[in-house]
Amino acid sequence: MSTNTTSAYSDFHLQFISGEWQTGKDNSTNTNTNPYNGDTLVEIQQATKDQLNEAYDAATQAQEAWAKQTPAERSAVLYKVVNILDQRQEEIVDWLIKESGSTRIKVMVEFGATRAITLEAATFPNRVHGEIRPSNTPGKENFIYREPIGVVAVISPWNFPLHLTQRSIAPALALGNAVVLKPASDTPVTGGLLLAKVFEEAGLPKGLLNVVVGSGSEIGDAIVEHKASSFVSFTGSTSVGKHIGELANGGEHIKQVALELGGNSPFVVLKDADIDQAVKAAVFGKFLHQGQICMAINRIIVENEVYDEFVERFLSHVKTLQVGDPNDQGTAIGPIINEKQVQSLRDKIDEAQKEGAKMLLSGEINGQLVPPHVFTEVTREMDIAYNEIFGPLIGIIRAKNEEDALSIANDSMYGLSSAVFTADMQKGLRFARGIRAGMTHINDIPVNDESNVAFGGEKNSGIGRFNGEWVLEEFTRTHWISMQNEPREYPF
Ligand code: TAP
Repeated sequence: MSTNTTSAYSDFHLQFISGEWQTGKDNSTNTNTNPYNGDTLVEIQQATKDQLNEAYDAATQAQEAWAKQTPAERSAVLYKVVNILDQRQEEIVDWLIKESGSTRIKVMVEFGATRAITLEAATFPNRVHGEIRPSNTPGKENFIYREPIGVVAVISPWNFPLHLTQRSIAPALALGNAVVLKPASDTPVTGGLLLAKVFEEAGLPKGLLNVVVGSGSEIGDAIVEHKASSFVSFTGSTSVGKHIGELANGGEHIKQVALELGGNSPFVVLKDADIDQAVKAAVFGKFLHQGQICMAINRIIVENEVYDEFVERFLSHVKTLQVGDPNDQGTAIGPIINEKQVQSLRDKIDEAQKEGAKMLLSGEINGQLVPPHVFTEVTREMDIAYNEIFGPLIGIIRAKNEEDALSIANDSMYGLSSAVFTADMQKGLRFARGIRAGMTHINDIPVNDESNVAFGGEKNSGIGRFNGEWVLEEFTRTHWISMQNEPREYPF
């Protein structure tokens, strides 16, 4: 749904602070490259801590007036954002392909999810509501208000940069907060600067959204620790998330945090499953975006009776996947985001072989293009099964029976998403309820995100929930106000 009535956003080399586009003042530069062909897309002078302070000052100042705007006024900005996303869809899709290595299929998933959470957030200003609760004290009335938090710090990752940024900033802004955002260094445009242009064009008042481009290791701690914010919304790895959790609640501050971290989704195929459908789901749920999704299938667990049949059909389907240019309509598997991630996948391939997994499918790694690698006779404690992969490699584990499959599925320090295939829905439901994870999908892939349904994990996958009422609660604070309508009797 694109039109030619708007001119393209052309310049992304500046920071967006205090409603102004300004040059970063740090000596270092972020050279943003295309992960498929290495082309330089833009060079961004990074922000200093002083510029970060400026962003927090602007956010603090702007937030009060924004919170006082009527719900209709705040909603209107969000609806305008949806219109602009639609008008600029082609431009946004182009940026996601060249900056994050997203295939055309993945981009449409991401664009749809971004649009959906923006529409959902547009309804939030009118959906916030308080409560009146009875009191055991004569003459007292209890009111529970939900108020904006103030300034929300957002730190986002590179894999679904547009959506995972928007999933925090759209609800936060809609609910009357201001935002200081640090996008991932691999995706400063689609994870931040592009959205800043969209919100600016939609008429969001100055200072409410600040995008500070800088490296996590340089300015990350300062963003988390800054006294102006009382809430940190972080999406990324478990190791950085743990560090942020400690930082937010150590030293001088106690801050609320939403941590959306790594995953190790099990995909369980029980013996009565529709194997054709399970294979199609397994291939898509594993290889979408080269497997670089927190909910991506990380372990396939198949009941013994159908193991060999599943492996054979899975392999023949995987062999049909086209690896290459993400801009090509036929490509299923595009490039890995950066060299460091490619190296971590090389290490995982070596480790799987060392540990005795059988490599049934492999291929030459060409630059940042990693073809699918499939391992069988994998056991639960092997690195490829126990740790997060974040790439197009997969191990298939044999389960003795349903009970064994559940025990393997739960043998993980993560608890984000999961899936089970069976012809018996009651069995599927029982199995799903036995899984320790925030999300389980019966007869579908673990990769699901709906803007009105609770999204999030437990254990090392994080704390907090996104979407719908759940994010509405996250991004507001609860305030109990009581009213004593008649003089109260005190014991002394
Ligand atoms: P991280 O390395 O954790 O990076 C995420 C963000 O944190 C980036 O913006 C990064 O900045 C920043 N960061 C790094 N060090 C920091 C510090 N000391 N203080 C504050 N911020 C810091 O993860 P990633 O490589 O982007 O993403 C991969 C991981 O994220 C995977 O484990 C994946 O499962 C997880 N993930 C989870 C989800 C959900 S929804 N649960 C979604 C996507 C990804 P720089 O880029 O500048 O280093």
